[in-house]
Amino acid sequence: MDFFHSHISSYSIKLVKDTLKSGFISEGKLVKRFEEELEKKLGLINPIALNGATSALHLSLVLAGVSQGDEVIIPAQTFVATGLAVLMQRAKPIFADILIDSGNIDPLSIKKKITKKTKAIIAVHWGGYPCDLKEINEIAKKNNLVVIEDGAHALGAMYRGKPIGSISRFTIFSFQAIKHLTTGDGGALCCFNKKDGDNAKVLRWFGIDRANSKPSILGERKYNINQLGFKYHMNDLAASLGLGNLEDLSKTIKRRQEIALRYRSSLNRVPGVKLLDYKDDRQSSFWLFTILVKKRNKFIKKLLSKNIPSSVVHLRIDHNKIFGGLTPNLFNQERFNQEQISIPIHDALTDQDVELIIKTIKSGW
Ligand SMILES: Cc1ncc(COP(=O)(O)O)c(C=O)c1O
Repeated sequence: MDFFHSHISSYSIKLVKDTLKSGFISEGKLVKRFEEELEKKLGLINPIALNGATSALHLSLVLAGVSQGDEVIIPAQTFVATGLAVLMQRAKPIFADILIDSGNIDPLSIKKKITKKTKAIIAVHWGGYPCDLKEINEIAKKNNLVVIEDGAHALGAMYRGKPIGSISRFTIFSFQAIKHLTTGDGGALCCFNKKDGDNAKVLRWFGIDRANSKPSILGERKYNINQLGFKYHMNDLAASLGLGNLEDLSKTIKRRQEIALRYRSSLNRVPGVKLLDYKDDRQSSFWLFTILVKKRNKFIKKLLSKNIPSSVVHLRIDHNKIFGGLTPNLFNQERFNQEQISIPIHDALTDQDVELIIKTIKSGW
């Protein structure tokens, strides 16, 4: 049994082969088609395909106007990419506390961390469960801040009837190998405003406006770049993998949600296990199934004795020297860090696997 599973559909293998045979593997028609399909199939707004979610986070901060000396409020319960993107703009990540019931950033803690230097908030949807977006966007509006949703775990998640990727000014997704939808490595930046989306397309390719810079007779495009751009675009090879895998996405997410339901109904009264809270107004896409457990190392060893893998996936990131060391008084973060553990949840698990996991946990550790 694996903890993660890279879903690669047979259709994606065919598309990748076709792309390789075509000889055109750089950014082209397929990237555009991939973006169109993301919009059509998942309801994402202006998704711009990139080479990773870290690039998407960085671009969102550039577009939000975050620069040297600004502060960006983020949770520590994330992967280092969230904090590093802030540093790339020479801004300072300020760590807010999380809600113990979800691992997501606490809106009340955000309020307390706002200063004159605050420019943006990055809300990470831990494991695919959406943050309190209404409250976060209200705080942002009141304080003139930009909201960036880090949806690296949350492709296919819903909040109050709307898909994640259609709500705040920016949302980023990851299509790295072990995510819901993989392009090998890749990501998308969804821009609520078309103007941001148009600019993102220019910035992802060195600051050159490809759509409006036709090649001249000399063999190079005519352009005159006026802003610092990056090499962040997706290529057609990755896009064909993504297009092929998109075919199966709703099925694989449904399977994850089905397994989550089974876990929730079976593990809700197990001594030493605390399930996370799932509100009725939102639907997780369950990249992870995280629980809180007492005596975590013993729990991990018990599962391992039955060949069941488990993982914390990411521990709090603020302890890293580059972020300035542990932020004091993040009480929920502290507890979450001690007790959180995720158990396998993906479409390659059989019903027998799921039952074995449940039985093993129920038998105690
Ligand atoms: C919360 C979060 N944000 C951002 C990233 C970065 O994603 P990528 O590897 O696509 O750059 C990750 C990677 O797992 C992540 O977990």
